[in-house]
Amino acid sequence: MEQYVIKGGRPLEGEVTIAGAKNAALGILAAAVMTDQEVTIENVPNVRDTRVLLQAIQGIGARVRYIDEHTVAICGGTINPNTDLCVDDEYIRKIRASYYLLGALLGKYNHSQVALPGGCDIGARPIDLHIKGFEALGAHVDIANGMISVEADELIGSHIYMDVISVGATINVMMAAVMANGKTTIENAAKEPHIVDVANFLNSMGANIRGAGNIKGAGTDVIRIRGVKSLHGTTYSIIPDQIEAGTFMVAAAATRGNVLIKNVIPKHLEAITSKLTDIGATVIEYDDSVRVMCNKRLKATNIKTLPYPGFPTDMQPQMAVTLALSNGTSIVTESIFENRFKYVAELSRMGAHIRVEGNTAILDGVETFTGANVAAPDLRAGAALVIAALVANDFSTVCDIKYIQRGYEKFDEKLRGLGALIEKVETDKEIQKFKLKVG
Ligand code: UD1
Repeated sequence: MEQYVIKGGRPLEGEVTIAGAKNAALGILAAAVMTDQEVTIENVPNVRDTRVLLQAIQGIGARVRYIDEHTVAICGGTINPNTDLCVDDEYIRKIRASYYLLGALLGKYNHSQVALPGGCDIGARPIDLHIKGFEALGAHVDIANGMISVEADELIGSHIYMDVISVGATINVMMAAVMANGKTTIENAAKEPHIVDVANFLNSMGANIRGAGNIKGAGTDVIRIRGVKSLHGTTYSIIPDQIEAGTFMVAAAATRGNVLIKNVIPKHLEAITSKLTDIGATVIEYDDSVRVMCNKRLKATNIKTLPYPGFPTDMQPQMAVTLALSNGTSIVTESIFENRFKYVAELSRMGAHIRVEGNTAILDGVETFTGANVAAPDLRAGAALVIAALVANDFSTVCDIKYIQRGYEKFDEKLRGLGALIEKVETDKEIQKFKLKVG
């Protein structure tokens, strides 16, 4: 089984380039099948989740062509709508974004069937809001045998209020409504950068999606969609990944390094920049890059995860690692997912002092971590444990890196480019070899 072996204690230094946003890519790749014409998507991150989704898209009959490692052409015109449009295999069941094909295929063909979504085990992750939105548009939704089926005679624009702010439900309902008859309003919509990106992509295919104030695109808590008859081909480049960028920012601060993080949109990183600055790191923003520098022990602070523009839940574990090393007591409140502290037990094995009470973690900062063998419990927590291992004195191993590979492209390679001593290995012999090599 693949794992990372890491020798910590070195500051990260140099430059790293951020890939396209995984969570935007998942929505955009699914939405690409909504036209019969070819769509070219650039800056697609080459990570496991996007590869699995592309396989599923191919599985329903779309033509998928890689132009280069990060550019994909998709043609939905080869899909036969007279099949049951069923998306199910052992892989798609494991990814959360499988459900985006539900909204996309419902929006285009008025029916589809998708295996109930999996994804990282970070909470109950219900899909009631997706269902409520589809039903409001006139679809009939049925759940049986691990599959969710949606079907409508005709989709009709509607007024939909989301009780809870949900990224997935906002994207899914937006896709289903794009070609519905009439106008749809989504209230209390999520505003994450990747939602704006999916809306911009759909608009570039001829959709009519506007936010509050009639501004083209999404990004406000009201999204207005005027149904159009059909969508057309386009070429579109995905935005940079906010969470990958944030992960490298935090890694630079935690290891007391100096890293220029390139290909980012600094505005998307404001919540992270602000916290890093509060605790004593230096963050310099440029047009499309940020530099993070740190040469001293950081200070404690409190964080609470919130929907965008608040502090992202997907950055909570990585930031917690930094706070577990900071001077003083920090409080981390997780308000989005109820099961996002699973890394705490692993981090404690590296010497962290963390107590979890309900949705709150209380971190008493320690000077440093000690190397240990730990397991990634999910994608972001896995990245957080790698950061911890980069700080720890001595060797660590992080296993179950399949989670990390869902969302980070060439994570170990990028870290090596910053001077980290990290290697992807499979056997004990390879671990011994690495230990001998780096001393
Ligand atoms: C997406 C991201 C994930 C991120 C999360 C929050 C993707 C593929 N994944 O996940 O990385 O951590 O946003 O930023 O983009 N909820 C309901 N009913 C629903 C849907 C959601 O109650 O029908 C609740 C969830 O339990 C959670 C909250 O809403 O408490 C937010 O979840 P949501 O924004 O939907 O997360 P995902 O789209 O699954």
